[in-house]
Amino acid sequence: MREICIRKARNSDLLAIQRLLSTYFLDMEGLAPEDFVLAEIDGKITGCAALIKSEFHGKNFLEIHSIAVHPNFRGKGVGTRLVKYLLTTTGDSCCDLYVRTTAPIFFEKLDFKKVENSEKLSLWKDCKNCEHFEKCTQHAMKYSYK
Ligand SMILES: CC(C)(COP(=O)(O)OP(=O)(O)OC[C@H]1O[C@@H](n2cnc3c(N)ncnc32)[C@H](O)[C@@H]1OP(=O)(O)O)[C@@H](O)C(=O)NCCC(=O)NCCS
Repeated sequence: MREICIRKARNSDLLAIQRLLSTYFLDMEGLAPEDFVLAEIDGKITGCAALIKSEFHGKNFLEIHSIAVHPNFRGKGVGTRLVKYLLTTTGDSCCDLYVRTTAPIFFEKLDFKKVENSEKLSLWKDCKNCEHFEKCTQHAMKYSYK
């Protein structure tokens, strides 16, 4: 396997991020390129993930958003490297780290644990206001720093 390099994104990476996310019908949801980290293999951007600070009902927390790996590079450890990089860079944080994901098994392998719907409702206003909440396919998961 060729080397996977992880780096912070720059403004000039905007189009590459948008292209990658659009593969999975994802958009940047108000995120800026600077919120992302990128995975590169041989200079080609093969994956991205964003980390944002959120707040709801007075609770501050961190959230992984918009993680995507190019279809040709899935299953090769790129997503794992992106998440581990984010975990390392937030390791001294006092905030909990969450993700809402349709790929819970991937995150379970990275020691994230599923949280109850009651916690999900207490963290995200859009979940609280969503008429599809009961049928939602996105699992809320939390990473606890050891
Ligand atoms: C989910 C995603 C980011 C994972 O990235 P990746 O580079 O393919 O993952 P890795 O190669 O690091 O996989 C690590 C492990 O998780 C497993 N895994 C990866 N994606 C998985 C998925 N969607 N469902 C179940 N297991 C998955 C891998 O099989 C691997 O298991 P192993 O260690 O036992 O071999 C990537 O597959 C992707 O972009 N999917 C489409 C977009 C998407 O679903 N994004 C998540 C929305 S929150």
